[in-house]
Amino acid sequence: MRRYRLNGEVSCVSVSESSLSLLKALELIEQRTQKNPWNAQSLKECFSDTYKVIVLYAGKISEGFAVIYNTKVTTDLLTIGIDPEYQGRGLGRFLLRCALAEALYGGADECFLEVRVSNIRAQNLYRSLGFEQVGLRRGYYGADSSGPAEDAYTMRLASIRAALGDGGPRPEV
Ligand SMILES: CC(C)(COP(=O)(O)OP(=O)(O)OC[C@H]1O[C@@H](n2cnc3c(N)ncnc32)[C@H](O)[C@@H]1OP(=O)(O)O)[C@@H](O)C(=O)NCCC(=O)NCCS
Repeated sequence: MRRYRLNGEVSCVSVSESSLSLLKALELIEQRTQKNPWNAQSLKECFSDTYKVIVLYAGKISEGFAVIYNTKVTTDLLTIGIDPEYQGRGLGRFLLRCALAEALYGGADECFLEVRVSNIRAQNLYRSLGFEQVGLRRGYYGADSSGPAEDAYTMRLASIRAALGDGGPRPEV
C-alpha cells in the first residue's frame, strides 16, 4: 500500500486488497460517475497483480478512484471517477497524477486510455497533462439503457515521467 498526500485531509492510496465495504463504496462511485458502471464483481477482479486500484480519500471516506492495467512497458487507464459532489476541486487531477505515478512505479512510462467523444471535461483533464488523441474507435461504448452507442477517442501520453516532472506525487514513507 502506498499513500500520496495532497494535504492533511486528502490522499490517494494504492490499495492491494479488496474488502466488501471498499467494493461497495467503489461500486457506488462507479454508479454515480460512469454511464456503463462496473459492478462489484468486475471491481473485485481488479485486485490482482496486473491491475492497480488507486482510491482517493478525504479522511476515511472514499470520494473517487482509478484503475490502471500495467504491462510494465505501457499502462492503460481503465476507469477514473470523482464523486459528483466533489468534482471541480482539483481532486480528479490529483487522482490521475497519483495513478500515473503508480504506473511509473510499476515500470510503465507510456499511458493509453479511451474516452467518450462527448466527454469534454475528461478530455480537458487528459490534454492538460499532455495526452494526445491518437485514434478513434467507432461504437466503442455499446448502446444500453443509458443511451445509444458512442465513439471513443484513444488518447496517449508518450512519457509519464516527463508529464509528472520533478514535482510528481511522491508516496509517503
Ligand atoms: C473527469 C473527472 C475525473 C475530473 O475530475 P474533477 O475533480 O472534476 O476535475 P478537476 O477539478 O481536478 O479538474 C481537472 C481538469 O479537468 C477539466 N475540467 C474540470 N471540470 C470541467 C468542466 N466543468 N468543464 C470543462 N473542463 C473541466 C479542466 O481541464 C480541469 O483543469 P483546470 O481546473 O486547470 O481547468 C470527473 O469530472 C469525473 O469523475 N467525471 C465522471 C467520470 C468520467 O467522465 N471519467 C472519465 C472517463 S474516461
